[in-house]
Amino acid sequence: MNASSPSPAQNQASTATLYGGVTNRRVTVRDLAAAKQRGEKWSMLTAYDALTAGVFDEAGTPVLLVGDSAGNCHLGYETTVPVTMDQMVMLSAAVVRGTKRAMIVADLPFGSYQESPAQAMRNAARLMKEAGVGAVKLEGGERSARSIELLVEAGVPVMAHIGLTPQSVHAFGGYPVQGRGDEAAHQLLRDAKAVQQAGAFAVVLEAVPAELAAQVTGQLAIPTVGIGAGVDCDAQVLVWTDFAGMTAGRVPKFVKQYANLRAVLADAARAFADDVQSGTFPAAEHTFH
Ligand code: KIV
Repeated sequence: MNASSPSPAQNQASTATLYGGVTNRRVTVRDLAAAKQRGEKWSMLTAYDALTAGVFDEAGTPVLLVGDSAGNCHLGYETTVPVTMDQMVMLSAAVVRGTKRAMIVADLPFGSYQESPAQAMRNAARLMKEAGVGAVKLEGGERSARSIELLVEAGVPVMAHIGLTPQSVHAFGGYPVQGRGDEAAHQLLRDAKAVQQAGAFAVVLEAVPAELAAQVTGQLAIPTVGIGAGVDCDAQVLVWTDFAGMTAGRVPKFVKQYANLRAVLADAARAFADDVQSGTFPAAEHTFH
């Protein structure tokens, strides 16, 4: 075995569950394919920094997505559209540095792959070489199939994303549910089969009726990752700021909030301010003499 050969551990898909399974290497596309075979569902969370990513990695989350949702959930933009390649490289590198086991997938942002497969390849290579991610994600079904094919041929694992594709927010006029009605449902099915045929290792289905997502999941050999797509997908993804209750205001119907970190942090900031005002912080144990 030379330095660039995969180790025996890398060569084998884990037969243990994705949770508590192999811990001496990162989760790979083969582990995810094996999970689909045995019917094991898995979770994916977004992450945009080393600290948060490290928490989810330690908790056993097998796949972390450096989503371009960083635009509206981390960088203060209204949508994902303004996010640049330089920003994605910087955020993705931090998430890679903060983790040991999760597969790190990074989004190709708007404008970084739609021109041509060559442009997609150039930018996917940046995410792999400069940030060290294990896979990239891009939006679009049939329209992105040629780019997916080239990336996969070049050795880049690709997660596809169909249904509601947020980079098209201005064309959609918002974030409407996709795949309603016969023609739209058939198109979604064609998109799903096109990305599988092109070599994608998984496909995100966003804001799709649950019955249609179940049909797609049943017809694909690759795992489907649902967000607002019902319970029958092979995996589920949530944006971490939504699931942890950091998002201000309303969250989409498909979000379940597992914590209320916004309230916890606001309470902590108010308690700190009160202590400073009253002179009870710093106390003797926080003080040097
Ligand atoms: O950017 C993102 O966070 C995503 C998920 C919503 C799937 O694409």
